Amino acid sequence: MGEIIKLNELGEDDLCRGISFYMLAKDFADIKQQNKSRLSGKEIKIIVQSLAAGRDCAWEKIQNIALFKSLFAENPDIKTSLEKIKNYDEYTYKHSLNTAFYAMLIAKWLRFPEKQVKEIITAGLLHDIGKLKIPLDVLNKKEKITDYEYGLIKNHTIYGFNLIREIRGINDAVRQAVLLHHERADRSGYPFNSHPANVNVYAKIIAVADVYDAMCSDRVYKKRKSPFAAFGMFKNEGREIFDAKILKPFLSRMPKYLVGMDVLLSDGIIGTIYEILPDLPEYPLVKTPYGLVATGSEVFIIRLI
Ligand SMILES: [Fe+2]
Repeated sequence: MGEIIKLNELGEDDLCRGISFYMLAKDFADIKQQNKSRLSGKEIKIIVQSLAAGRDCAWEKIQNIALFKSLFAENPDIKTSLEKIKNYDEYTYKHSLNTAFYAMLIAKWLRFPEKQVKEIITAGLLHDIGKLKIPLDVLNKKEKITDYEYGLIKNHTIYGFNLIREIRGINDAVRQAVLLHHERADRSGYPFNSHPANVNVYAKIIAVADVYDAMCSDRVYKKRKSPFAAFGMFKNEGREIFDAKILKPFLSRMPKYLVGMDVLLSDGIIGTIYEILPDLPEYPLVKTPYGLVATGSEVFIIRLI
């Protein structure tokens, strides 16, 4: 049997050793907890690839990410708002989850602390909540929309800014991201054509995540493009309209998650993404039964499988 030591019988050194041990044990427990809630590269890859191939299984997985779950537990109003979006328009719901997921990855690559990563996830989940105020026949119109209808759609930023005032625990940075996620660095955006210095970093992250998902998703009025077409857009014309500090980690890290996916090439051959060179994220090398193909303007990827 071990000797029972009363606290008041311990010397100063014993107490220091005890406290140090307690701190070590606590640190260890914290690290263990962090590791448990940390998203592995494999899990990220599964979600990125599911979304890239348009598989209907990613949204459950995104909501099960530890950061999303703890956000919903801390603020059930965010989950309730997401449910409202789901009941109104299924596409906006899925797009909101995808945008929040991509925004979370960007925030992590930019090494934001966890509290801010959660705020950026919140901004992603709610960035289009203002679409609740836009008539569905305008939101999902198959034909080309009129200037008047485009004006209505643009108002979703202001409607969203006002709507999330009613949700508790939403700070100004998140509200600004909802209001300013369509502003662009060349001042071509809306609602204010703001100078980039007046647009917060959350809005700039949501802008990249939002456009990437919109380009890679089917809509009633357009077919989705491949992620590589999106990388090409961000690398070229995107440099003028998105923030370079956000594009850099996005273009260097996102393409790597697509390595190993099967693709249909424009010449009808099916291959597997073999490698993506850092300077050419839009043109991956594809392994086919006939050898390695460098995709480009002649042979390009039609879709991921
Ligand atoms: Fe939007």
